[in-house]
Amino acid sequence: TDDTTDYYELTARAGSARILPGVNTTIWGYDGIFPGPTIVSRSGRRTVVRHFNELPVPTAAHLHGGHTPADSDGYPTDAIVRTGGTLPDIRQYAGMTMSPGDFRVNYGYRDYVYPLNQRAATLWYHDHRMGFTAPQVYYGLAGFHLVSDDEEAGLPLPGGDKDLLLMIVDRAFDGDGQLKYPATDPSLLHEVGVSSRYHNGVLGDTILVNGVPWPFLDVANTRYRFRILNAANARRLELALDPPPADGPHFIQVGSDGGLLGRPVGHDLISIAQGERFDVVVDFRNYQVGDRVTLVNRAGSGSTAVVMQFRVGRREIDQSWVPSTLSDPSEYDALTPDLASVTRAMRFSGGNPWEINGAPFDLGRVDADPKLDATEIWKISTSAHHPVHLHLVQFKIIARTAGVRPTDGGWKDTFDLSPREDGYILTRFSDYPGMYVFHCHNLEHEDMAMMANVAVG
Ligand code: C2O
Ligand code: CU
Ligand code: CU
Repeated sequence: TDDTTDYYELTARAGSARILPGVNTTIWGYDGIFPGPTIVSRSGRRTVVRHFNELPVPTAAHLHGGHTPADSDGYPTDAIVRTGGTLPDIRQYAGMTMSPGDFRVNYGYRDYVYPLNQRAATLWYHDHRMGFTAPQVYYGLAGFHLVSDDEEAGLPLPGGDKDLLLMIVDRAFDGDGQLKYPATDPSLLHEVGVSSRYHNGVLGDTILVNGVPWPFLDVANTRYRFRILNAANARRLELALDPPPADGPHFIQVGSDGGLLGRPVGHDLISIAQGERFDVVVDFRNYQVGDRVTLVNRAGSGSTAVVMQFRVGRREIDQSWVPSTLSDPSEYDALTPDLASVTRAMRFSGGNPWEINGAPFDLGRVDADPKLDATEIWKISTSAHHPVHLHLVQFKIIARTAGVRPTDGGWKDTFDLSPREDGYILTRFSDYPGMYVFHCHNLEHEDMAMMANVAVG
């Protein structure tokens, strides 16, 4: 560490995890664990992460939600190949054409530089390898990266052991307790692309929170802050508490993808798609000591209808509260549609492969070329459900067919659209020129070509 930079090292490697009782499950994790280590940074302080790769497959690390220069953004062909390894010679995959010449390879490790000139926010890092993101995240390559700032630190929100990260995924296991990804060739662990039969995405029947199936958490009868991330490949969640609280909303939302809201918003149901984050406070003062409160998934059924359970086990005086003003809204309020100089249309359709504006992802094609510092409106249209994600910047959701939802507020980087919906986002492409991607965060859709190149400059 020097005065202005914090250094971290992460190694993508195989590991063994106790996920199911009495079984060691092989995973691919950062430092061999799933979720990977949580990185905590201060806003405006440079963080350098040296990503080593010891896996038999190339990796590319992406900081989701990061305001990051292009060469550190984990563009899908900026690959890390393990020392002594080779880049697999894949020319055709899921409607996309690529060749080894398209890759910029680092052997052994690559340094990612994150200036983090952005607000306090709950970010996450995950693999982003060209064509193979879904299996590599499925095997465990994901972790949290928190950014804090003075504004957030000054708030009386629940802290310490009452400020918890919840990474929710679904997974399927075989009879031996091993992760079962429906690969094109399951015998080749080193090259697992999804079978096109799974073009709607890979679902599992086991819900994991921070790598643990349907966990219990002992809580006091106080407020808790939960940073909820849906890191599933293809499962959308609709979260609620059962039984409902005696008083007030199930969740008090204090932040979204890009950081704190201006003001808290109460919700009784939170729909959270893949890649989205909801920063919420749950007030267990609305329950009795001895109560068991289940975090349920109203979009699931059977084993996927339950996420985890809170056991209200002790009485405590609550020191925290949720103030009516959380953050300075002036930047958010100042971004208005009349500032936009360009409107683009992005149509998410197809199926096999998945397409944006009628074409599968093409490494050599530029799909949008926003000028640096330009403010733009993007109209996004869908055929099916697609949680769309834009790199580099956070955006504002300004309209959607069924009307902007109460959960659409704040700075977003991932926008969950319903089938046959038109949604409008507003953003300014600031600070860093270069090539970024815009894609569906259903990871199977992404791997099956639902991605576009955004050349900022
Ligand atoms: Cu979370 Cu481009 O991804
Ligand atoms: Cu991202
Ligand atoms: Cu999609």
